[in-house]
Amino acid sequence: MTSNISPKILELTQRKLLLKPHHPLSILKQKIYEFFHRNYPNTFTTEDNFDPKVPVKNNFDLLLIPENHPSRSLSDTYYFGPDTVLRTHTTAHDFYMLSKYNAFLLAGDVYRRDEIDAKHYPAFHQLEGGRVWKLSELGLSTYEQGTKYAVEELKTTLESLAKEVFGNVEMRWNEEYFPFTDPSLELEIRWMDDWLEILGCGAYKKQVLLNAGRDEETFGWAFGLGLERWAMKVFEIPDIRLFWTQDERFTTQFSAEKGFSKFTPYSKYPVCYKDISFWVPEFFAENDFFEVVRNVGGDLVEKVDKIDCFTKNGRTSYCYRINYRSMDRSLTNEEIDQLQFQLRDLLPKQLSVELR
Ligand code: PHE
Repeated sequence: MTSNISPKILELTQRKLLLKPHHPLSILKQKIYEFFHRNYPNTFTTEDNFDPKVPVKNNFDLLLIPENHPSRSLSDTYYFGPDTVLRTHTTAHDFYMLSKYNAFLLAGDVYRRDEIDAKHYPAFHQLEGGRVWKLSELGLSTYEQGTKYAVEELKTTLESLAKEVFGNVEMRWNEEYFPFTDPSLELEIRWMDDWLEILGCGAYKKQVLLNAGRDEETFGWAFGLGLERWAMKVFEIPDIRLFWTQDERFTTQFSAEKGFSKFTPYSKYPVCYKDISFWVPEFFAENDFFEVVRNVGGDLVEKVDKIDCFTKNGRTSYCYRINYRSMDRSLTNEEIDQLQFQLRDLLPKQLSVELR
């Protein structure tokens, strides 16, 4: 099996945005850590510099993610080889943390092959928390009582965390599904007249805790949240690519001292769009197409939309519109034409599509 990880993605693994104290993602991470340290002194151990390269076992198997689950596929996940991936979530580290600590917080960059727009980027950041107890320690007699206790504690904790970060917002809990927790829940907040999902969580399944080397009477909770999703709201950052820019007009706006300051947009440069149409081969994964586009256009690609699809004589044709826009400068038509040329050259070679 060959790796599906491009050099561009490998570069991102070196950026370590969470370790830059004045980066908005890092400021947010720090605020969340502080919330837990203040409310539960000397309880949570934090960790934010684990290698994103993890065994398939930790990312999927031990978390009871089924063998045929779509998130395991080559079109969704970056594989170094058959047994190693770029973590798709920070939950991959829960086994290690649970083998050492009863309560932990952990943040890291995670990677998923995905569509392209202002909210999706193949790399983003998660902050994870976990806490366990033994039944005897709390004087409980059944596992059900433990689970109930954990879920109540989890809900109150996360509600007050959300209040601290987002202010006095309306909130609601929905049932969710994760293979490694039961029950599983998601928290939504009311934000600008919409409901926004801000985290997933639940009580660890007993088998997951056993997989982590814990005993039959250990129970507890876990949660995971997407830092970009939170940061885009509290700092008012409109495009996910901005987190990765090295433009000083972005990087100098934030500081740990200023906390949750609002981003002042610098001028938005004009968009330049180009369409590309091709006959779709028998085996075609849209994420492979997005990846080629990203490899050619990098962060100049703002958004890719499928704008047409038709079938003729048993063959299907797609047309995609690629929106190019720089965060930092004006683009010339010539340079975009250049990128489009490269794309037209690479697509038939890499994906066996026939251009139209
Ligand atoms: N790992 C889950 C995700 O990436 C989030 C999660 C973490 C859910 C911990 C439950 C418990 O979507």
